[in-house]
Amino acid sequence: MIRVQNLKFTYPEGVEALGDISFSVKKGESCAIIGPSGCGKTTLLYLIAGLLPIQDGVIQVNGTTTTRGNIPMILQDYGLFPWKTVWENVAMGLILKHSPHAEIKQRLEPILEELGLTPFTNFYPSQLSGGQRQRVAIARVLAMNPSLILMDEPFSSLDAMTREHLQQLLANIWKRHNITFIIVTHSIEEATFLGKKILVLTQRPARIQAEVENLHAGDPAYRSSKAFFEISSRLRETLFATQGVQE
Ligand SMILES: Nc1ncnc2c1ncn2[C@@H]1O[C@H](COP(=O)(O)OP(=O)(O)OP(=O)(O)O)[C@@H](O)[C@H]1O
Ligand SMILES: [Mg+2]
Repeated sequence: MIRVQNLKFTYPEGVEALGDISFSVKKGESCAIIGPSGCGKTTLLYLIAGLLPIQDGVIQVNGTTTTRGNIPMILQDYGLFPWKTVWENVAMGLILKHSPHAEIKQRLEPILEELGLTPFTNFYPSQLSGGQRQRVAIARVLAMNPSLILMDEPFSSLDAMTREHLQQLLANIWKRHNITFIIVTHSIEEATFLGKKILVLTQRPARIQAEVENLHAGDPAYRSSKAFFEISSRLRETLFATQGVQE
C-alpha cells in the first residue's frame, strides 16, 4: 500500500527533519510511528499526504507516486466546522461531491451508529466532549470510504479512559473495514495497542531506529497480556536509547 524509500527532507530554513527513511506498510495493516518530540514525525506524515514536496527519495501509495494529495488526515484538534452540526460535518465530503441526499443518508447512518454518534447528529461541536468531537472527525473521514488514513497524535488531548475507548474503536474499524492506518503517537502504550508494525524514530534528522512487528495489535485482550508488556518495555528501552538518556 505504501512504500517509502530513502526519504530525506530539509526545511528551507535549513532544519534537517528527515535523515534517511525507508519502510513499507501493507494494505490493511496499521503502522504506529513513535519518536522523540521534534524528530520529524509530522513532517513524515505531511510528505506522505502530499502536503510537503518531496526533495529526495520516493513515496509510493498503491504502487504509484502520483496519487497523493487526497489522503485524509486526522489531527489532534479535530478540525471540525463549529457552525455545522455533527451530521453536516460528517456529510461534508459527500455534499462537496454532490452525492444525492438518499445516498448520503445511507452511507452516514451506519458510520454514526458505529461511532456512537447517532444521538448527537444535530449537535454542534461546541456541545460535544473532546472524545465525541474526535469521533466526529473519524466519522467524517470514514464517510469518504478511504483506503488509507493518516493520524497525527489524534488522541493526545483526551483523558486516559476516553483514549483507550477510542483506540479500541479505531482498532475495530481498522479490522472491519480493512483500512490502512498510519498513526503518529507519543504514547508507547498507544503504539503497542494500535500498531501492527511499529516504527521507532531517532532524534532529528529522523531515521528508523527500530521496526517492531506486533502481531496482536488491536485485540481487546492484548492490553492486559504479557506480550503487550514486553513490546511496550522494548519500545521504551529503544526510545530512551535514541534519546541518549538513562531510564
Ligand atoms: N514549517 C517549518 N519550517 C521550518 N522548520 C520546521 C517546520 N515544521 C517543522 N519544522 C522543524 O522540523 C523538525 C521536525 O518537526 P516535526 O513537526 O516533524 O516534529 P514532530 O516529530 O512531529 O514533533 P512533535 O512530536 O513535537 O509533534 C523540528 O525541529 C521543527 O522545528
Ligand atoms: Mg508532530
